[in-house]
Amino acid sequence: MSRAKRPQGRAADLNATVFAGSRRAALKSRRRVWKMATLAAAFSLFALYLAWLEANDEAAPHHTDESPLGQAVAQASGRASGAAGPGPDLVRRGEYLTRAGNCIACHTSDKRRPFAGGRAIGTPFGTIYTPNITPDPDTGIGRWTDGDFARAMHEGIGKEGERLYPAFPYASYTKVTDQDVRAIRAYLNTVVPVRYTPPSNSLGFPFNQRWLMVFWNLFNFDEGRFVPDPKQSAQWNRGAYLVEGLAHCGECHTPRNLTQGLKTTERFSGAIQAGWHAYNITPHKTSGIGGWSDQELVGYLATGVAPGRANAAGPMAEVVEDSTQYLSGEDLRSVATYLRSLKPVDRGETRSRGEWGSPASDALALRGTKIEGVNGAQLFLANCASCHQWTGEGVGASAPGAYPPLMHNSVAGASDANNLTMVILHGVRRTTQDVDVLMPAFDRELTDPQIAAVANYVTTRFGNPQSTVDAEQVGRLRATAQ
Ligand code: HEC
Ligand code: HEC
Ligand code: HEC
Repeated sequence: MSRAKRPQGRAADLNATVFAGSRRAALKSRRRVWKMATLAAAFSLFALYLAWLEANDEAAPHHTDESPLGQAVAQASGRASGAAGPGPDLVRRGEYLTRAGNCIACHTSDKRRPFAGGRAIGTPFGTIYTPNITPDPDTGIGRWTDGDFARAMHEGIGKEGERLYPAFPYASYTKVTDQDVRAIRAYLNTVVPVRYTPPSNSLGFPFNQRWLMVFWNLFNFDEGRFVPDPKQSAQWNRGAYLVEGLAHCGECHTPRNLTQGLKTTERFSGAIQAGWHAYNITPHKTSGIGGWSDQELVGYLATGVAPGRANAAGPMAEVVEDSTQYLSGEDLRSVATYLRSLKPVDRGETRSRGEWGSPASDALALRGTKIEGVNGAQLFLANCASCHQWTGEGVGASAPGAYPPLMHNSVAGASDANNLTMVILHGVRRTTQDVDVLMPAFDRELTDPQIAAVANYVTTRFGNPQSTVDAEQVGRLRATAQ
């Protein structure tokens, strides 16, 4: 009787299947919604519990920065305790500290409006744009109290109580003393207010949920001021305070875990960020910088060059340009003292980055040969030899602004060709008090296979022959947001 109504044949079967399928899908998605809701509820309860814990945590010991040793460290580095009152001294000290913290690098997208933010910071979860930290009341932090500011620096919490993303290195800044945070604020109050609203972040769900940072903090964040180690010298303590706190060297040089927290067991052993390898700077003889003298390290941080070893390009050029070149010799020596004392981490290199290569004589062999296909040696002669010489020995040896030799250069001798590729793609640009350093970028002139060929030529001839790169990897590095 209901025959006519019954779906017939293959089409009917198909319909039935589709129907059953969509019902299953509907059921499944309803179940998923329930699952998500339950999960969210559980998370929220847990978050509330954590908030409650935090609020009731008065009895827990709090780190302080007013210990006698802390003051000794401060005095040893020329920061007289009398300079703590408001006034030009505080502002001047704040400027120095703001440089040590390199706030300007991240909070500036256009050099004509320093500290006004808007710089895109690429993360594995999407793009974050830095906020305006000039004293503009509407678009900057002009309306923030000193307490709001200290809470952001020490706890990673914004003015409205929202959780800040750890792309803002508060996990390091939490170590900065209250006094120094006050000085930084005093200085920032004096910079030109800029009316500018940076673009909003493009983070997908769930990373756009700021409250989830509660969990990130739980696993990766240890709130508290630097605690000096009384067994160590004042110089060591000053170095530790800078490296672990304001100068946040570990934010680039320490590898990260799955949730992007710093792997505390492998501190300073090297990490890749935005395509660049921030090398191992532990005192390991072959994997790290154990072979560097203190003077080489201090000179590198002050000028960007450790002659015959390393030149600072990319993000490290920025660190030197905006931050470390302004630090006092005494502070830089403290940084060196502290880095020397770290646990050496072995990454398996048999020779140190700066000890590879010898001059080449390929130009003689290539004389009169035809140019065929993509040839690394020929590309080198055509694009690089005018400055670095066909022998790879460079020009001007170790003078500031020299074209450096490519043998005994940490970028050519590294165990991967990342930075070499990045240097060819983007060039080198570094301005310091004594010199403007410029190597042109080749991203427009050379294709991916050409860059791979010239990079492989450089590592084989002048560097670590085991480091190679192919065109696909060059393409990936080319596409990495800087
Ligand atoms: C490595 C990049 C980086 C550096 C260095 C850095 N910041 Fe930031 N900062 C950020 C990012 C990204 C945010 C936004 C975080 C967010 O949206 O949750 C931020 C947020 C802030 C905020 C909160 C502003 C607001 O409107 O919510 C303040 C205040 C701040 N930074 C001050 C500083 C100071 C002071 C320094 C130097 C001591 C500094 N930052 C150095 C990346 C950086
Ligand atoms: C923004 C990321 C970043 C920060 C912050 C940073 N570095 Fe670096 N660092 C790098 C990168 C990338 C390189 C590789 C540069 C190159 O290839 O020219 C590097 C290279 C170095 C080198 C040279 C290593 C070698 O063998 O060539 C030293 C030494 C160094 N950094 C020390 C420091 C110290 C000390 C600090 C803190 C004051 C610091 N860095 C902060 C990214 C960073
Ligand atoms: C116009 C001159 C010029 C040309 C052409 C040139 N370079 Fe450079 N190169 C420089 C300068 C200047 C530096 C930076 C020196 C410094 O950091 O003090 C540099 C630095 C380097 C470094 C070291 C980077 C570091 O971080 O340690 C490498 C490697 C390098 N160049 C390779 C190349 C290659 C490969 C080519 C050809 C594709 C090339 N250069 C073309 C001038 C040049």
